[in-house]
Amino acid sequence: MRKVLVIHGPNLNLLGEREPNVYGSTTLEEINQALQEQAKKSDVELKVFQSNHEGELVESIQNARHWADVIIINPAAYTHTSIAIRDALSAIAVPTIEVHLSNIHARENFRQASHVSPVSVGQVVGFGKNSYLLALQAATLIPLSGSKK
Ligand code: DQA
Repeated sequence: MRKVLVIHGPNLNLLGEREPNVYGSTTLEEINQALQEQAKKSDVELKVFQSNHEGELVESIQNARHWADVIIINPAAYTHTSIAIRDALSAIAVPTIEVHLSNIHARENFRQASHVSPVSVGQVVGFGKNSYLLALQAATLIPLSGSKK
């Protein structure tokens, strides 16, 4: 059974009430429920973590190295600022899929650069809640090398 960790960054706990014109009206809880349902059907063991704190996100990435086969991460605003999150992802040998609800490439200039993309297998953006579900599908398809220590 594939083990997948989904990490949500800052302000994503406010989904549903936060700028629904940009991020949709689905709550984080609803996204997590949909992910759990898809995981069940896809024979995936899924863990979910959300934090508004950069250091906690770094720690969750570090802690995933002995458990997760794949990480799905929406680093939210830290996508554009955090070298610490990028370094944590490149320090561990767990393939990572970057997710965004909105199409960051069609938004403000400062959102178009991602520190996480260069250390990710791929990116799913612009499909709202379905960005996560597509990323979970991708997580079941990407080849894995070796077993967890
Ligand atoms: C986001 C895009 C980021 O630019 C923004 O800071 C977010 C959400 C998205 O999912 O579209 O908080 O990651």
